[in-house]
Amino acid sequence: MVDARLDPDRLRERLRSLDDLAAGAPPSDIEVVRAPGRVNLIGEHTDYNDGFVMPAAIGLEIRLAVLATDERRVVVSLEETGETGSFDLDAIGPATGGWIDYVGGTAWALQDAGYAIRGFRAILASDLPQGAGLSSSAALEMASALALLGPDGSAVPVGDRARIGRRAENAYVGVQSGVMDQFASAGGVADHAILLDCRSLEFRPVALPLPEVRLVVCHSGSRRRLEASAYNDRLVECQRAVAAIAQLDPSVRALRDVDDELLAATRDRMDEVAFRRASHVVAENARVVETERALAAGDLASVGKLFAASHVSLRDLYEVSSPELDALVDIATSVDGVIAARLTGAGFGGSTINLVRRDRIIALREAVERDYPARTGLQATIVDVNAVDGAGWIRDGIT
Ligand code: GLA
Repeated sequence: MVDARLDPDRLRERLRSLDDLAAGAPPSDIEVVRAPGRVNLIGEHTDYNDGFVMPAAIGLEIRLAVLATDERRVVVSLEETGETGSFDLDAIGPATGGWIDYVGGTAWALQDAGYAIRGFRAILASDLPQGAGLSSSAALEMASALALLGPDGSAVPVGDRARIGRRAENAYVGVQSGVMDQFASAGGVADHAILLDCRSLEFRPVALPLPEVRLVVCHSGSRRRLEASAYNDRLVECQRAVAAIAQLDPSVRALRDVDDELLAATRDRMDEVAFRRASHVVAENARVVETERALAAGDLASVGKLFAASHVSLRDLYEVSSPELDALVDIATSVDGVIAARLTGAGFGGSTINLVRRDRIIALREAVERDYPARTGLQATIVDVNAVDGAGWIRDGIT
């Protein structure tokens, strides 16, 4: 059952109570769209290197109750605070640094790609925490894309919607992120992760070992630090490695095209930092493929090893972990019944993802409550999440 704040009828009434225009509209004219957050099981910082990722859309989401209007204007109010953001579709200004940028950026990117979009009045509710590394911004982009496109928006292919969201991040918001978060939010498959090739955008569902094993998110409670600039630096460092490798092998367009052997042969052509970043990406791509194989074979011990290797690589080679994330992984790994644990998403704070035997979630919770505050001075939040379908309109009877 979803959070009561997200109940579609309640959202319709809230929108009607906020706005004279909406108050005059029959509730049936107010459509509700949902878009989930995501966790990434494995394949971190590989997406903008044209590589492989394995995210799952999770049952924490953003909902917009939307009344289409004849105006060329978008007005969105937050259900929680009443704070309102707005912009004109024919004069979208530069990013402002606030949440409305993810709506405005999506509108800008859709129009730039030639889509006809509509004005609307909406109320936004969410049970997806911000700054937790669970892609609340991508979820807002994917919900906004459907709200702007209208009821037929779901017919726009997932990959096209995801690319639009990525463009909004890259060219409007100014974060040089890859396509993973938007793709997961738009194209998630219930009870599955998805293995996505970030170059071709081909994907396939990956069955999870449910219901015995659950996806458990531990939010570190630490704010992400320097995220946008440090994140963008990583892209530049990877590009340095690609440029050096391409001198030897001009067919290389991205780190996706590089294997261990080629990387070893070109090591002396690049600086130490570029080599560390590239080493992570090359090995991480291989780990994604191996994880799919291990899950299919029911080999959870190997999944645990692959997650552990991914975390260490993100900590030591990619340098995006934090003392808090390291502590959470360390504590989780010491709990019997925790199969796999690693940081998820960009890093620099945020959350870890854990595969946990259902009957051991309480033990994990107890261990984190006992040890984490002593090690970090912070409280962590632990959420047992479902893997859900990607963004869509909520039709009658479905909550
Ligand atoms: C963030 C970005 C994604 C991806 C991850 C790291 O979530 O938005 O595109 O790069 O970091 O894997």
